[in-house]
Amino acid sequence: AEADDSVRSLSAWTNQRGSTLYIDNVSASGQLTGTYINRAAGFGCQNTPYPVTGWVLGNAITFTVLWRNAVQSCNSITAWTGFYYQGRITTLWQLVSNGTTSPGQIQQGQDVFTRSGK
Ligand code: BTN
Repeated sequence: AEADDSVRSLSAWTNQRGSTLYIDNVSASGQLTGTYINRAAGFGCQNTPYPVTGWVLGNAITFTVLWRNAVQSCNSITAWTGFYYQGRITTLWQLVSNGTTSPGQIQQGQDVFTRSGK
């Protein structure tokens, strides 16, 4: 098995903000599906699951959340891009809100996920 096989299977990953990415499936072509529960202080749309879609290519990974579900909508989208290495998924993310009109309004940061389940 390759070192990055763990991101290609059912698994849960929690970041330094306490949020969790649940990977439900990664298809043979690399398409990722799952859910994301946001628990980060200072953000909306916390504590309920949102659908995740993304791609895995070797140890490279990208995934996106539209912050809209039956419970709460935050009128925004986050995209994470990063890599799996030595047990961590290290990412950079950008958060854009509907209505954004300049690059400076795009929030960005870093999230590091470690395996937390399954
Ligand atoms: C919003 O506030 O518009 C929606 C929730 C955004 C949560 C962000 S996504 C990047 C960062 N990492 C997390 O786990 N949560 C915050």
